[in-house]
Amino acid sequence: MKILVATEKPFAKTAVDGIAKVISEYGDELQLLEKGTHSDLVAKVADVDALIVRSDIVDAEVLNAAKNLKIVVRAGAGYDNIDLNAATQNGVCVMNTPGQNSNAVAELVFGMLILMARNRYDGTSGFELKDKTLGIHAYGQVGRNVARIAKGFGMKVSALDPFVSDDVLIADGVMPIHNVDELYANNQFVSLHIPATAETKKSVNAALIEKMPVNGTLINTARKEIIDEESLIKALNSRKDIRYVADVKPDMAEAITEVAGDRVFYTPKKMGAQTAEANINAGIAAARQVEEFLHNGVEKFRVNK
Ligand code: 3PG
Repeated sequence: MKILVATEKPFAKTAVDGIAKVISEYGDELQLLEKGTHSDLVAKVADVDALIVRSDIVDAEVLNAAKNLKIVVRAGAGYDNIDLNAATQNGVCVMNTPGQNSNAVAELVFGMLILMARNRYDGTSGFELKDKTLGIHAYGQVGRNVARIAKGFGMKVSALDPFVSDDVLIADGVMPIHNVDELYANNQFVSLHIPATAETKKSVNAALIEKMPVNGTLINTARKEIIDEESLIKALNSRKDIRYVADVKPDMAEAITEVAGDRVFYTPKKMGAQTAEANINAGIAAARQVEEFLHNGVEKFRVNK
C-alpha cells in the first residue's frame, strides 16, 4: 500500500528516516511530498491509501481526489486543517497523535516569554518569571507541560479547563480557575492552549485582554484563529503595557505591529512543534497509527465518526 507523507513544513530528516523504517516493516511504500502546494497535494493523493500531514490543508478537494484513501493522520494535535465531514463522507478515517509534540510547544512558550521579559535581549533591564502568575487557558497535553516547566521557574500557576477536574489540577500543584474573566484578571501571563473550533474562534478579545494586570503578556502558541485580531488591536491601543506573543504571524500583523511595536512578537512560521524530537515522536506515531489501521483495523485516536 502507498503512504504519502505530505508536509509543506518538512519533518527533520531523522523523523523521515524513522517513518520510512516503520512503513517498510509493514511492507508498504513511502511517498514523500515536502514543501508542496495544495495543488501538488491534490495531484499526489490520487492513488495513495494513506496520508500523513501536519498543518497542511486536507479539504474536500483533496479528499475527493484521493480515490483509494482510507486514513489521514495529522502528525500533531490540532486537526482544524482537516475537513472531518468530507472525510467521513468519503469513508476516510482521521486521527491525530495527541501529546507527541506537546513538550516542544511548551518549551517554546518559555522561549518566547523570556525573549519578551528580557526586552528581546536589547541590554535594558527586564524582569524575571519567578513568583509571577501564569494562567493556562486549557489544560490539555501542552497546558500540562507548560505547568510543569512554569513550576520549575517558580511561577504561581493556575488553569481554566471545564473538561479537567479540580483534583487533577490540584494534584499537579495548579490552582483551578472556573471563570474566564478571572483567568485574565488574576494572571500577569496567560498562555493559550484552546483548540480552534466554531466556539473558540475569535473568542479571545479585548474584553478579556483588558482585564489583565499591569504589564500583562498574552502568549498564543495555539491557533491564530482563536484571537479576535481587530479586538486585540483595540486592547493593545488602550493598554500600552500589554504584550502579545504568538507562534505564527497574525493575519493583521502589520496593523498590530503598527499599534504595539516591540510589545508584540510573532514567529514567521509555526515553530512550536519544530524540533527533531517532536518531529520524530509525532511522525513515527503517525506512521504506526496508519499501519495499525491499514493492517489490523486499530482505530485508536480516531477523531471523526
Ligand atoms: C499541532 O497542532 O500539533 C501544532 O500546532 C503543531 O503544528 P505543526 O505540525 O504544523 O507544526
